[in-house]
Amino acid sequence: MPNKEMMQDIQNQNDLYLLVDEFYKKLLADNSISYIFTDVVKIKIEEHLPILVTFWSQAILGTGGYTKNLTQIHLDINTKEQLTPELFKIWLNHFYNTVDENFKGQKAEQIKTQALSIATVMQIKIAQQNTN
Ligand code: HEM
Repeated sequence: MPNKEMMQDIQNQNDLYLLVDEFYKKLLADNSISYIFTDVVKIKIEEHLPILVTFWSQAILGTGGYTKNLTQIHLDINTKEQLTPELFKIWLNHFYNTVDENFKGQKAEQIKTQALSIATVMQIKIAQQNTN
């Protein structure tokens, strides 16, 4: 277990790399969600993680570099396999746990809040898509 006293906030892209790496270890180890990443979309982890770092760096550290439409990417996944509220719950739980196990501070709180708000928007768009 990490020592809470020694834990630091997210400060740079190396920290974000550690975060997304640990996060994807949890996602891929969880059979209730891993099939989306291994069967529905076959992600190449070594290509995927740097994209995630760029995305979160833009969101949290204020760097630029992420230009794609993230909601559309997830709407496209949803046409192949339903991204249910249950899956979002699992995704968010693993994300929160990974943040809390590794970081403590303002940016650590900010990244969790941002993940929740993006997940909320995605779920609204997915619900709209599902009724079409
Ligand atoms: C049920 C929840 C989710 C599942 C199953 C899921 C699954 C996936 C999959 C399979 C990809 C790869 C898509 C591709 O390469 O074509 C992907 C990409 C990505 N996801 Fe998610 N996702 C979920 C929620 C989220 C949320 C809430 C966020 C952000 C807060 C997020 C951020 C990203 C980012 C940044 C990428 C990279 C997109 C790119 O290639 O530009 N995902 N996701």
